[in-house]
Order: sequence, then structure tokens, then C-alpha cells
Amino acid sequence: MRHLIDWQSLSRVIWNAAVERALDYYEHAGEWTDTARGRSIGLMFFNSSLRTRTSMELAAAQLGAYSTVLTPGQETWRFAFEEGAVMDGQEAEHIREAIGVLSRYYDALGVRLFASLKSFNKDRDERLIRTIASASSVPIINLESAFYHPCQALADAAVIRRQLGDPRGKKFVLAWTYHPKALPMAVPNSAVLMAARSGMNVTVARPDDYALDYGIMQMARSYGAQVEETDNREQAFDGADIVYAKAWSGPLVYSDPEHEAARRESLRDWCITTEWMQKTREARFMHCLPVRRNVVVEDDVLDGPGAIHLEQAEFRLHAQKAILEYVWGL
Ligand code: CP
Repeated sequence: MRHLIDWQSLSRVIWNAAVERALDYYEHAGEWTDTARGRSIGLMFFNSSLRTRTSMELAAAQLGAYSTVLTPGQETWRFAFEEGAVMDGQEAEHIREAIGVLSRYYDALGVRLFASLKSFNKDRDERLIRTIASASSVPIINLESAFYHPCQALADAAVIRRQLGDPRGKKFVLAWTYHPKALPMAVPNSAVLMAARSGMNVTVARPDDYALDYGIMQMARSYGAQVEETDNREQAFDGADIVYAKAWSGPLVYSDPEHEAARRESLRDWCITTEWMQKTREARFMHCLPVRRNVVVEDDVLDGPGAIHLEQAEFRLHAQKAILEYVWGL
């Protein structure tokens, strides 16, 4: 069965083909086809979304498929996840039955279920989305889980290809930014792996205490890319072709969330400004969105000529079509 939980468990051939297909769909933007006529997808959003939800619904429609969006706990029963749960509390249905039923109705299921930020092992092992995949008899598409956001990664790879041509050897900077809330690592993890798999030289610019998971960095290096981390922003931004801004909470959030919050508050100057962008090689500015203006990045950068965050969001639609094609074997 063709689940899409993350890209690294799929071959480079599949990845390259998906990037090509997203670019093809960009060339044919707005076209409606019958490719997936008669198929259906159920989309479960345990967390909020603008882009992922709308782009996947529209992608399904433009391929001729039917979609339903569910907000668990609001339009459904509340679900229990634990194996062996004694369900005498608020949860009326176990995820095993819920997914077992939905996978008898739909031809694929999409699930958004963010990190707990409570148990690092549980988040890193992707325990919840893997439980869902194991209960499903149809493909599961990860719409952002604890550790990965493969839909975003595919859109990002395709838009970089459109902007830079062959990205190999170009400098990709993943720039940590301040954010008032502790955020998960799914997007930065996927961005580093995407850039490395695209053959870019990757620099992660982040303060102490905000290192990405060692396993992610090792996996990125296994693609043959040059991958480094630094707290020296001068060095990181120098010569960058892409600056990909993202806030995330470091490993401290799991062991000492109060300390992590205090540490983060001391890092408010980690905001992307025109001064920082001027140190680059006229880099494109990327952000997965939503973005907090004048907190994560200054207006002048977002409204400037190098910002490609809206085209990046546009590519979410093209990438979703490529993903539906992949999981359905169209
Ligand atoms: N980037 C992204 O996934 O956007 P949404 O959270 O709005 O879906």
C-alpha cells in the first residue's frame, strides 16, 4: 500500500518523479481532469490548517475526486489512541475503529496530527500516525505529523527547482526564528531533508539549545550533502541562495518547558530583517506559512522582491496532485 508518511522511506526515483509531476502541474495550473474520477479521500485535521486543507481539497476536486474534511472531536467522537486503553473517560471511540471504518468508505485518508511536545520518543517515532497507518486498509497521507510534513517538503523542492533551476551545490539556509509559542519540528526536519536530497549545501542557523535531532542531521548527510549547524548568523547567511525561516522549539521543550520558554524569550532578535538578507547572494526568502509579521520576519523582507512564500504556498496545490497520483498509482 502506498502510504506517504515521510519521503525518506521512499526511493529517490519516487521523490524525483513527484517533484517533476508537481512542476508539470504548475505548468498546467487551473486545469481540471478526470484522472481520479470515482475516487474519494477523507481528510482528518486534528489541528488547524489553511493551506494544507484547501490545497488538498482543491487538488482532489481538480483531479475529479471527492473529498470530505473532518475535525476530530468537533464533528466526530473523541478518539482514544493508546493500545489497551480502558475507555471510561471522554473518548467515545478508539482510533482503530475510526480508521477501520473510514478506510472502508474512502480510497485514501489524509491526517494532520501535530507533535505532543511532551514525549520526545513518541514524537520522533511518529507513534500516532503509524498507529493510524496500521489501522488503515487504504493509503494514509501525512498532512503534518509529529516529525514530518512531506506535503510541504514536496512543494518546497518543486518551487526551489522553478526558482533556481538545478539546485545542486546551492546554499540553503534554514534560519531559526523567535516565535512566542513553542512550535514542533516537522517543517524544519522535512526542509533539511528536502534540501539535502535536492543536492543543496545545507546550513542550519540556530541558537544553542535549538539543535535539530541528531538522527535528522545524519539522515540529511546520508544523501551526500554538506550539512552543518551554527549559531553564527553572519557565517550562515553569507552567500545563501535560499533563506528558509522557521521557528521551532528545541529538545529543551520536552525536558524543561519553562526553561525553554524563558530561553526563547531571550532570543527575540532572531528575526529575519533586510540587513540579514543583504548578507546573502540575493537569496530567495521562504516560509511555509502561517508567518507572524515583524516577529518572525520584517515586512520589508516579506514584501520585497526576494520573497517567494506565496509561490511556495501555490505549489502546495501542485504538490498535492502529485501526491494523490502517487498514493493512488494513477
Ligand atoms: N504550511 C502549512 O502546512 O500551512 P497550514 O498549516 O495552513 O496548512
